[in-house]
Amino acid sequence: MPNHSAPQRAVPGSGSTLPDLTGVVLPPRFRSRHARIQDVDGMSSLINEFADARIMLARGPLYLYQNIQDYRVITLPVGGRETVIACGGLHVLWEDLTEVRSVAVHPALQRRGVGRSIVLDLIEDARALGAAHVFTFTLSPGFFASLGFSAVDRDTLSPVVWAECSKCPKFYKCDEVGMMLHFPPQDQEQ
Ligand SMILES: CC(C)(COP(=O)(O)OP(=O)(O)OC[C@H]1O[C@@H](n2cnc3c(N)ncnc32)[C@H](O)[C@@H]1OP(=O)(O)O)[C@@H](O)C(=O)NCCC(=O)NCCS
Repeated sequence: MPNHSAPQRAVPGSGSTLPDLTGVVLPPRFRSRHARIQDVDGMSSLINEFADARIMLARGPLYLYQNIQDYRVITLPVGGRETVIACGGLHVLWEDLTEVRSVAVHPALQRRGVGRSIVLDLIEDARALGAAHVFTFTLSPGFFASLGFSAVDRDTLSPVVWAECSKCPKFYKCDEVGMMLHFPPQDQEQ
């Protein structure tokens, strides 16, 4: 059984709570799985590392525990314990609208297809739920464009989108790009 209670080995001298992945090799094949309660510490470290850099919205443990069923993670064994190297969530906003949230890949393992793998699985989750659209706000529009999302005019966005935005410190000076993926109608009838 993985030992989730042991303290994570952080990047030395960095002030970061991220695990030190020096020397960790990404296996040729990896897959996301639905997150478990025990993953929250690792997810929190990843998400809040980027939130500290004002790249994403911070998520506290209360939010992560209460919304754990939204999330997927990719883990690797590091130092004998299962370690979260990436995470992302899919939240249902309305009858036709879902939102990809909190996609984060450990800095040491970016640009190797990990983020793509997580978001493709979240898109499949949205499709399986019968959603018509998948939305996201991001500072990495190129990444989401490579997965089929297109930029949307924020004036056309549903008011439900803004409920979450109102929790963001950048609410009045938002620099994120709204992006949308639309499923063809036949996908929603299955
Ligand atoms: C953005 C992020 C999730 C991408 O994950 P990743 O594992 O590095 O990306 P991948 O290797 O899966 O890249 C998938 C594709 O997107 C492209 N891509 C990745 N990051 C990109 C970026 N910042 N800008 C433009 N394109 C990008 C890649 O080139 C790749 O395209 P290709 O397959 O045609 O070469 C990751 O860099 C990250 O965690 N960033 C910090 C947090 C963040 O910005 N989250 C996103 C929104 S909340």
